[in-house]
Amino acid sequence: MPMQLEGRVAMVTGGGSGIGRASAMMLAREGADIVICDIDDAAGQKVAAEVEALGREALASPTDSSDSAQVNRLVERAGKRFGKLDIVVNNAGIVSQATIRELTEESWDRTVAVHLKSMFLCSQAALELMIPGGWGRIVNIISRAAFKGRAGTGPYSAAKGGMLAYSRVLAVETAQWGVTVNNVAPGTTLTPMVEAGFPTEDIRAQEARSSGVITQPMRLAEADEIAAAVLYLCGTHSDHVTGTTLHVNGGTYMP
Ligand SMILES: NC(=O)c1ccc[n+]([C@@H]2O[C@H](COP(=O)([O-])OP(=O)(O)OC[C@H]3O[C@@H](n4cnc5c(N)ncnc54)[C@H](O)[C@@H]3O)[C@@H](O)[C@H]2O)c1
Repeated sequence: MPMQLEGRVAMVTGGGSGIGRASAMMLAREGADIVICDIDDAAGQKVAAEVEALGREALASPTDSSDSAQVNRLVERAGKRFGKLDIVVNNAGIVSQATIRELTEESWDRTVAVHLKSMFLCSQAALELMIPGGWGRIVNIISRAAFKGRAGTGPYSAAKGGMLAYSRVLAVETAQWGVTVNNVAPGTTLTPMVEAGFPTEDIRAQEARSSGVITQPMRLAEADEIAAAVLYLCGTHSDHVTGTTLHVNGGTYMP
């Protein structure tokens, strides 16, 4: 089968780890060159080397996706190197755990900025390199948490809900340029962000049961399963899909 993304250039925020890394690698395996926007330089460089080992080109530079100057600098470098951007995966994320009486203003602001403001800044900057090509894909990694209440996830859930709402606006605004905007909403997924919390198979199975997984066997998602949804939304079979959310959660939430 021909590769779906030959000649495409994709920027993946938070591409140095977990779902972002898996997405970067899957897009690269389908032919895309990759720009890694990750605040963690060592992680970003490592994934860039893995992409290059597949025979694709990669650019990684330490970048805070919630800082416009840093994002613009990386996108400018991507423009000089590749001449365009076709795909943005807005994936960078952090978790915070605090209920309303413990939550600090700093934690609220940082969590919302890393998820929601990053989506705005990275999409806006990348669009300028996408529009001339008349084709583009914006894929946002949101979360089941945008749909289901869970104590302690306030700013995280609010930011993911904001990304959901903003994706619909962006889908309408960018359709004229041949750009689609969609979300992937993972349930609990085994990445460095959560692995430490669920160290053994038993604990992982328990978490799967308590979060309501119905697919068999009951288990948490693998990062590659989320990346496969990202690939579908970036690929050649989803031209008519925009403004929607693909849930990958083992049946724990059904909209
Ligand atoms: N793992 C899960 O269970 C799960 C479930 C639903 C949604 N998500 C979402 O998936 C995304 C990826 O999560 P993950 O589990 O792969 O996490 P992870 O911690 O493994 O990876 C996150 C990456 O984002 C980078 N990052 C953090 N802040 C950044 C910033 N300001 N600028 C640029 N890069 C930054 C980190 O350095 C890291 O490489 C997040 O948006 C998360 O909210 C994860």
